[in-house]
Amino acid sequence: MRVVVIGTGHVGLVTCGTLAALGHEVVGTDADQEKISRLQSGILPFHEPDLDALVEEQAKDGRLGFTDDASEAIPNADVVFICVSTPPRSTGEANLVAVEQAVRLVGHRASGRTVVVEKSTVPAGTAQRIRHVLLQEGNGVRKELEVVSNPEFLREGSAVRDSLEPDRILVGAERDWAFGVMRELYAPLIANGARLIETDINTAELAKHASNAFLALKISYANALARICERAEADVVAVAEVMGADPRIGPDFLRAGLGYGGSCFPKDLQAFQHLAASLHYDFPLLREIGRINDEAIEATLEKVRAGLWNLEHKRVVLLGLAFKPGTDDVRFSPPLALAARLLDGGATVVGHDPQAMANAKEECPGLLASTDPYEAAEGAHCLVVCTEWPEFRSLDLRRLRDVMAQPFVVDARNLFEPEEILAAGFSYQPTGRPGSP
Ligand code: UGA
Repeated sequence: MRVVVIGTGHVGLVTCGTLAALGHEVVGTDADQEKISRLQSGILPFHEPDLDALVEEQAKDGRLGFTDDASEAIPNADVVFICVSTPPRSTGEANLVAVEQAVRLVGHRASGRTVVVEKSTVPAGTAQRIRHVLLQEGNGVRKELEVVSNPEFLREGSAVRDSLEPDRILVGAERDWAFGVMRELYAPLIANGARLIETDINTAELAKHASNAFLALKISYANALARICERAEADVVAVAEVMGADPRIGPDFLRAGLGYGGSCFPKDLQAFQHLAASLHYDFPLLREIGRINDEAIEATLEKVRAGLWNLEHKRVVLLGLAFKPGTDDVRFSPPLALAARLLDGGATVVGHDPQAMANAKEECPGLLASTDPYEAAEGAHCLVVCTEWPEFRSLDLRRLRDVMAQPFVVDARNLFEPEEILAAGFSYQPTGRPGSP
């Protein structure tokens, strides 16, 4: 099938690579000309494991190309994916301006039977709006344009695997022929055992927000437990293990820490709250999720303060700046929120991250960045583990201790085992588990 993908961000670019790998002819488009010319030269705009190889291979095999002129590609497409960003407005509502613009272009340029797929996360009810815009832009010409909701469930850091081996493919549509097109599009994945769930459009749109909000709820539940465990001298890691052993609960997303960030959970939670309010349903549970998430930053800050007394004239190292390991993405990154609070308090803050340093510096200019963790730790009074990059596990703890002015670690991701770090001579404050007295 001929596929056009509008928007080459994390979701769009992975969609391009995946659909090309499934054997389709894919054209990726983006309004950002520089991004497209870099993609045409094989340079990816962000770090995502295995994506460069996938894109390179599909481009070499001639199934994947890029253009900054979507209007040229759309008339030949069987399917057009809308993968533009839907950032939050100041009210929390999703800003759907880019979606509307993309859809107007599709309505104007599509020539024949085309399925228009909402891949970007949008509030329930958006498809109706899209349908209306498609009709407006059709200028009275009879076109068979069908809207489908096909939310994405990939995670940054494992996006390629998540897309090629999805646990579910969700398709919301109104007409049989559109369901048929989507089945054909994803046929190889379905044949491989991916579960296809077909629903009406509103249900598919809502299910995406419901899933992300529920995952955020699990994380906030774990973080609230961490606060209680700290007061009760219990161990949140063990509590989560016990809970997770119950298949009704499951072990995932119960890791207490610095809280969730990224371009999805914070934004989607706000958008879901906004949707609930617009439907006149009070959903205070959603507000609590965000409040507990903010509390995780404050709890970490308090540990730093408690160990250092005054923040002024203190050097604090943040190990990890990305919102999670495996990415260079710092959007709504909890480590940067902590950095801002520490800088406000007068500390000198040095960050180290295997991938996200350039993005972090851009987002938080007051932050000093160091490419070497030992150099970052030189003369430091506290080291905060902010992102659980696996490579941090193999740091030479004794060497770190020797270069620091005060051997003090706040482990906001419970990366280390208390025994190993105490044995290396550090004073240690983990999250939701007993540390140094
Ligand atoms: C999330 C969802 O997991 C995907 O299913 C969804 O497709 C995506 O949003 C999206 O809507 O596009 P992502 O934001 O890439 O994916 O990353 P996650 O692995 O979900 O992590 C989100 C945040 O939660 C990170 O900051 C991570 O550190 C934090 N987290 C995760 C915890 O603090 N504790 C946990 O136990 C798990």
